Amino acid sequence: MRKKIVVGNWKMNKTVAEAGELAAAVLEKLDDGIVTCEVGIAPPFPALTEVGKVVEWSDIRLVAQNCHFEDDGAYTGEVSVHMLASLGCGYVIVGHSERRQYFGETNQTVNLRLKKALDEGMQVIMCVGETLEERENGVTEKVVTEQVRQGLKDISDLGGVVLAYEPVWAIGTGRTATPEQAEEVHASIRRTISEMYGELAAGHLRIQYGGSVKPSNAAELFAKPNIDGGLIGGASLKAEDFVAIVKAAS
Ligand code: 13P
Repeated sequence: MRKKIVVGNWKMNKTVAEAGELAAAVLEKLDDGIVTCEVGIAPPFPALTEVGKVVEWSDIRLVAQNCHFEDDGAYTGEVSVHMLASLGCGYVIVGHSERRQYFGETNQTVNLRLKKALDEGMQVIMCVGETLEERENGVTEKVVTEQVRQGLKDISDLGGVVLAYEPVWAIGTGRTATPEQAEEVHASIRRTISEMYGELAAGHLRIQYGGSVKPSNAAELFAKPNIDGGLIGGASLKAEDFVAIVKAAS
């Protein structure tokens, strides 16, 4: 049985003070319910320390939104894995579609970041997903399979890896994939993993869904056999909504 994982990706939102308040509100609301899934929060870099302080004694994981693949050096604007680890991050997201779309991230650079994070003992959430054009051209499975294969290139052990299927057309658009559409891609990803790593590893791998997940649609998405939780954008910026989604996964 795979333990579901729900992570709030706050993207480029919240000042340090606002982030601390939101994390505290999430923590407080979670306290009054039974939570059986893994929960994480990915604030922007400047707020990691503040959110880390708030969640320090809780089960909430501190997650970074990106990392660089070098240890240190002349890489203006980048943050290394050991810097993130020093702030208490246990997870890092790599390959988010916004990084691919706006910041030149490719399957190759995603693979480098993933390798570096795993080498440093950090767990990784690797995002994959097709654009609307790719879906309409009928190449969803081909694109996603390629992202999975290349992103995981030369990775022998999937122990520290979570995948997130985030169809680009469903992110921030209010247009969620139907549970059936999502399940179809999740099942195909699991088949790819099974071909690469065997059935046992594929059975253990967690695959989150992301893209306009809300309290109103979370339960039916999470009820699908291959959907193991969610990567939540917009709805994670409201403590009440995020906690409702966490409870839907519990
Ligand atoms: P939304 O939930 O805002 O669609 O964002 C999803 C996402 O990109 C999470 O990483």
